[in-house]
Amino acid sequence: MPSERRKGTCGHLPLNVRSKAGRMKSVNLGRMIRLAGEVFSARTDPDQLDVDEAVIERLQSLHPATLSEHVEGDGPVVWILLIPTTRETMDLFFDHKIGERELLDRTHPGEHVDALYLCSALVLPEFRGKGLAQQVSLAAIRAIRRDHAIRWLYVWPFSEGGDVLAKRIAEVVGLKLYVRKNPRVSTESA
Ligand SMILES: CC(C)(COP(=O)(O)OP(=O)(O)OC[C@H]1O[C@@H](n2cnc3c(N)ncnc32)[C@H](O)[C@@H]1OP(=O)(O)O)[C@@H](O)C(=O)NCCC(=O)NCCS
Repeated sequence: MPSERRKGTCGHLPLNVRSKAGRMKSVNLGRMIRLAGEVFSARTDPDQLDVDEAVIERLQSLHPATLSEHVEGDGPVVWILLIPTTRETMDLFFDHKIGERELLDRTHPGEHVDALYLCSALVLPEFRGKGLAQQVSLAAIRAIRRDHAIRWLYVWPFSEGGDVLAKRIAEVVGLKLYVRKNPRVSTESA
């Protein structure tokens, strides 16, 4: 995708951007991939979702807005990942009967979904605090809600920023937020 078309845009993450990542020259893309590596390597839960090309393809088959980005300059500066699931799957996750990976394994294209998992948000450091994560997340949630009657929103925060962001998003979309406790994150922050 030519860089001039990507400048300042906000939209769903095209699969080819990630699959051709190794060959692209975007500085932002390289930084985002490094940031994702740093952030996700810090997560030690064995049941967490590792985002590889198969996972990206699977997510996109569920809904194009499951992976969304905001582009500035030569590439992405924000990535937001959402997983549409059922309330039954959400309950199993909260009961610790399944992990994050199974949220995706249990969801199939074309099936009824009513619970949305706020999976991850990544913003390059100099773009933080400008409302971008919230803006991209809200656009993605609205796109998914146009196709699915989402009634529940849930999150498993692993940073204070992720926790506050999820709470703000829930307030704006008017859904109650269900938070799976993470002992490493204070969820009293908002
Ligand atoms: C967390 C992160 C995604 C926030 O992105 P951002 O674009 O700065 O967030 P926004 O500007 O949209 O802020 C949304 C809300 O969250 C709050 N917030 C953002 N980062 C925060 C932080 N570190 N601590 C407390 N609150 C924070 C904002 O104040 C805002 O709330 P407000 O409307 O009441 O002011 C970004 O800091 C990041 O990429 N961090 C590293 C990865 C990470 O921890 N991701 C979250 C878990 S996957």
